[in-house]
Amino acid sequence: MDPIRNPFAPGAGSPPPELAGRDEIISAAEIALQRVLIGRHNKSQIMLGLRGTGKTVLLNKIGQLAESHDHLISFIEAPENRSLTDLLYPKIHQVLRKLSMVENAKAKAHEASRALRSFASVFKISMGDVSLSVDPEPGVADSGILEFDLGDLFVRVGETAKMAGKAWTLLIDEVQYLSTGDLSALIVSIHRMNQKQLPVIFFGAGFPQIAALAGDAKSYAERLFDYPPVGPLDDAAAFAAVRQPIEDEGETISNEALEEIVLRTEGYPYFIQEWGYQAWNVANNSPIDKGDIEAASSLALKRLDEGFFRVRFDRLSPKEREYVIAMANVGSRGPYRSSDVADRLGESTQKLGPRRAKIIRKGMIYSQAHGDIDFTVPMFADYLKRTSIKP
Ligand SMILES: Nc1ncnc2c1ncn2[C@@H]1O[C@H](COP(=O)(O)OP(=O)(O)OP(=O)(O)O)[C@@H](O)[C@H]1O
Ligand SMILES: [Mg+2]
Repeated sequence: MDPIRNPFAPGAGSPPPELAGRDEIISAAEIALQRVLIGRHNKSQIMLGLRGTGKTVLLNKIGQLAESHDHLISFIEAPENRSLTDLLYPKIHQVLRKLSMVENAKAKAHEASRALRSFASVFKISMGDVSLSVDPEPGVADSGILEFDLGDLFVRVGETAKMAGKAWTLLIDEVQYLSTGDLSALIVSIHRMNQKQLPVIFFGAGFPQIAALAGDAKSYAERLFDYPPVGPLDDAAAFAAVRQPIEDEGETISNEALEEIVLRTEGYPYFIQEWGYQAWNVANNSPIDKGDIEAASSLALKRLDEGFFRVRFDRLSPKEREYVIAMANVGSRGPYRSSDVADRLGESTQKLGPRRAKIIRKGMIYSQAHGDIDFTVPMFADYLKRTSIKP
């Protein structure tokens, strides 16, 4: 059918034509945002899921909702190897600038800017184009201990937002890339704002192990956050994710075809977009039927193998590749025991520890329970079996 009208949106963070199966998460977020604005307590949230499950899409959606409910928002994507302070500085600067336009909040915004200035100098943040013309405020956010100073700064921002009759939403994507120190400081700072009942809320997203990491960093993290799982879609949601966009374009798809897509994609959102996209292009006309899905599947897999899967595999060194291939050889679905992987490689678990840690840092695998390991990319073992494992 006409590729120009193809509604599907396979990509990173690209809004799907139908955001299926996430109503609960969205409505919980919307309630939280409104509660916070009127000074009621609400837990912050960290959405947990594998690659391509729709975390970024949800964070963006929540960001939009926040803006529509009178929140100022700061959206950060934590890249590997950059400090949280560098990332936060320009965002907080921007929020304070906006708040300073509100007459009531001018004085508080000025104080907060001074705290930001202290913070920037003690953490040697390169201010670049975003320089501050205020003097630092001695004794505020300048101890050099991130946990205290970030808390001071957040409290100032929260107080300013409150004076302005607004709220502040901080959104951080890829939380797993934050260093342990940054994650701890973030948790402490959110905790402090909660205690002071400031109109601030945090939404994060990242890999499933974050819940455990946050708990290790501060034992109260468990009570501070909700951790909504962002997993594969259930059958009804997966059906809707494919059918709705097609029907919105005035076309149709058969039930057998829908079932086949759900079977092949296991309900993973990114795969659903990829299959929907190919199925639309392959089909000559409505209804899209099961035969079209057969043809679409090989195209979709080819695209995934050359893109989504490949880019991640390419980032591994030869030794690291050996490790993940050994995982895939243990079985096509995780979690895997590290000891089984070690046996496959004929090495000791201990000796493989550093290698395993490097692959975790690269975001390719994660460990949720001691001694267990799994891929962060759904169906990655199948990919390795298709492409890298010689018989
Ligand atoms: N609820 C949904 N229904 C249908 N498609 C969705 C849904 N959520 C996300 N998608 C689609 O899935 C793809 C991946 O979404 P997104 O980039 O948000 O995932 P992610 O979890 O952030 O992945 P990563 O961990 O790689 O950053 C996009 O093409 C998006 O359009
Ligand atoms: Mg993402």
